[in-house]
Formats: sequence, structure tokens, C-alpha cells
Amino acid sequence: MDIITTTSYEALSITAANYIIEKLNNNPSAVLGMATGGTPTKMYEFLIKDRIQNNTSYQNVTTFNLDEYVNLAKNDANSYFSYMNKHLFTHIDITKQNVFIPDGLAENLEDECKRYEQLLQDKGPVDVQILGLGENGHIGFNEPGTPFTSRTHVVELTESTRQANARFFPSLEDVPTHAITMGIASIMNAKEIILLVSGKNKADAFERLLHGKISEDFPASILKNHPCVKIIADRSVLEQSSIIA
Ligand code: GLP
Repeated sequence: MDIITTTSYEALSITAANYIIEKLNNNPSAVLGMATGGTPTKMYEFLIKDRIQNNTSYQNVTTFNLDEYVNLAKNDANSYFSYMNKHLFTHIDITKQNVFIPDGLAENLEDECKRYEQLLQDKGPVDVQILGLGENGHIGFNEPGTPFTSRTHVVELTESTRQANARFFPSLEDVPTHAITMGIASIMNAKEIILLVSGKNKADAFERLLHGKISEDFPASILKNHPCVKIIADRSVLEQSSIIA
């Protein structure tokens, strides 16, 4: 794992955005794996800025989102469908047909997972997968204990994940209990992975990622087995860390 440390969240976001822009310049039909949550929002801002300034085209880009809540309407402000439209898609020239997000409202969720996994196989592999890090080490919504061999599946969110995400919802009760997520094996299939780590609340997880053993109890630890992972971490994480100060 390649670790890049930045002086601020802003610098982390620019570094990640520049990396993606460079990839798109080299390969205008790249397949990007998109993450949601608080961490990547500024990276998306920089991608939009670049789109305005340099006209980077997304017309031939394909995107796959990591996950989606179950039972939230697509137009619900907290669905990841709405998140992606708000933070990126409505600001770039992406082709709607090339955007893939699991359907958390599908009548048969198991079939939806199979369909999504098949799409990943057919249109993939993902060239660059963006990831955030859960406080409990989750990637996508793969909670501790998820088999490393998992493919796209339905997951019951842990109480700690629901609490961590409650800040986006009117109350904890409004946070969905389930989600569809790409599995750990699906994520590991990407050619390159960029893990963004920002915020004091991620310091423990970051330390465990760097120095702990590879174990299904800590999903992100599997990234150590991937041949091309970049971790971009900002100072707020490092200052809390007893290892790198
Ligand atoms: C969420 C998402 C993940 C995200 C992670 C960290 O629950 N499902 O994809 O990376 O948790 O979120 P944040 O960046 O808001 O800390």
C-alpha cells in the first residue's frame, strides 16, 4: 500500500481529484468506482471545478457506485442516487446509461445483487475504485465479519454504522437498517484502489489498517493484499495517530 499524507482535507481532495483526472486524460473511457459519505465530497467539488476549467469529458466514462440504502426512494435526499446527482453527475457530461448504482427499491433484492454483480463483470473491471473508511473498518457497507470472498449482497447495517450516518438524517430512526453493497471480492477486483481517510474519528481505524493483521473482523485490512492501493490520509488522522505524529 502506497501511503500519501496531505496537510489538509482540501489537499487530500485535490490529490484524489488530480489522480482521477490524470486517469481520464489517459483513458477517456475509464470505469470509475464511486464512493459516497462525507469524505469524498470535496474531491467531487474539485472534479466539477476541473470540468468547468478544463472541459474534462465524462461522456465515455462508466461509473459503479459501491452501495445504496435499501428502502429509500431514489429521490430521497439521503439515497446515494441523490447524493451522486447532487455532488457530481448533474455537473458533468456523463451519459446516464453509463451510471450504475444498486437499486435499493428492487422487488427482489437478491436478484438485484446478482444483476449488479453481472454488470460489474460485463462492463468492468473497475479501473480506479474510490473508497472511504468506516470507523469500524468497513469498506462500502461491508461490515466486520463479512467474508473476503463476498460479492454484491444485502447487508444489515451495524448500530455503529447507523449512528455514524445518522448525522445526514433527521433522526437515528430514519437511517435505513439495510443496504446493498458491492462485496469485498467485487471491490478487490478493481485494478487500482484509492482509499481516502480524513478526520480524527478515523485515526483508530487508520492505525489498525496500517499495523493490524489481515482479518475479516476488519474489512479494510484485505487491501494489504491488493497490488495497487493508494491511501490518501490527511493531517487530522495523522495527528491522532500514536504511530505517525
Ligand atoms: C459509509 C459508506 C461508505 C463510506 C464510509 C465512510 O457508511 N457506505 O462507502 O466510505 O461509510 O463515510 P464517511 O466518509 O462519511 O466517514
